[in-house]
Amino acid sequence: MSTTITELLARRKPGHALEQPFYTDADIYRTDMETIFYRDWLFAIPACELEKPGAYVTHQVGAYGVVIVRGADNVIRAFHNSCRHRGSVICNKAKGVSPKLVCPYHQWTYELDGRLLWAREMGPDFDASKHGLKPVHCRELAGLVYICLADTAPDFDTFADLARPYLEVHDLANAKVAHSTSIVENGNWKLVWENNRECYHCGGNHPGLCRSFTDDPTVTGIEEGVSPPHLQQHFDRLEAKGYPSQFRMSDDMQYRLARMPLLPGAQSFTMDLKPGVTRFLGRVRDEAAGTLLKYHYPTTWNHFLQDHSIVFRVTPLSPTTTEVTTKWLVNKDAVEGVDYDLNRLTEVWIATNDEDRRVVEDNQHGINSPAYEPGPYSPIHETGVMGFVNWYCNTMSNRLTTLRMAAE
Ligand code: FES
Ligand SMILES: [Fe+2]
Repeated sequence: MSTTITELLARRKPGHALEQPFYTDADIYRTDMETIFYRDWLFAIPACELEKPGAYVTHQVGAYGVVIVRGADNVIRAFHNSCRHRGSVICNKAKGVSPKLVCPYHQWTYELDGRLLWAREMGPDFDASKHGLKPVHCRELAGLVYICLADTAPDFDTFADLARPYLEVHDLANAKVAHSTSIVENGNWKLVWENNRECYHCGGNHPGLCRSFTDDPTVTGIEEGVSPPHLQQHFDRLEAKGYPSQFRMSDDMQYRLARMPLLPGAQSFTMDLKPGVTRFLGRVRDEAAGTLLKYHYPTTWNHFLQDHSIVFRVTPLSPTTTEVTTKWLVNKDAVEGVDYDLNRLTEVWIATNDEDRRVVEDNQHGINSPAYEPGPYSPIHETGVMGFVNWYCNTMSNRLTTLRMAAE
């Protein structure tokens, strides 16, 4: 690439889409991974997915394979999925349950807390205590598991302390995964996010979602502290009932929480607008509660509804491919076919994800053209996109400057 990422960031036109290399270039993709995905806290899984001690899931983030496991003490931990003998992957499956973590190559055997328990005939000088699995930072926040691949993790508590009361009323610790999908979108991860951060496209692309979800830019936008009266009344009414709702966003716009109304009469993201599950998950009891919107760059956006919750995870796979994983969480005691119909529960967001995949892929395809020129974002409908792009560019600029100074 002839122009460096630093030069591209410096000449960025505010309020406009990014230049083509940000969405296509292998060097920028690698820098995105090293500067953001290998440094920030990443949402990984809902904690309820690890039902009992020994339950594990694996997750690949760029070059890093990670195994997340519930210990005998019920604590959830994350480790690099690479054996301390000769480096083999230890857990090959997407998920499983095992009393110990056993490497398939020579059967080195690790406790669920990462300690090496057994290694056959390694000689008298071998010190097992020096060959435990390498830990990955891991935090559980009100039923959501986050990991961080950095040696030194950035602050998590500021976000966690803000988000915890919003999440706790949804009781995610007592959830189960009713359904899970993973789709691959042929688009750069930033295009997946840009698309998510606006509803300018909703009317033309999401007939199912638009039954319940508004494309009102005051709901989909990002202006903290200046909510219009109808929204402020909604927040105040629900806060008075004990459901944290007020719009809150970090100064750098990395995360946002707000309980937003759905369209009048809509209780959930279903085609008939009624709850998708009759046995509710969490303590919110209000037909007009709407949806608690939470986004947290770079990996997750979420909907927490009165009846169920939906968590989304974004994982870049290459400069032009991104995995989007969606999990529908319901009360762990809800019974499929009795308390919910799986198709009715999931059809709106399965369709919406596919519609979003199509627009993201069309966006990528058009950007690939040499004729592509970054156009302006709508100041009415795309403030959220501008917020994302500003967060991305500021984060990259600051971290690249820090790295440069450290190298000098
Ligand atoms: S590489 Fe794991 S036991 Fe040998
Ligand atoms: Fe969409």
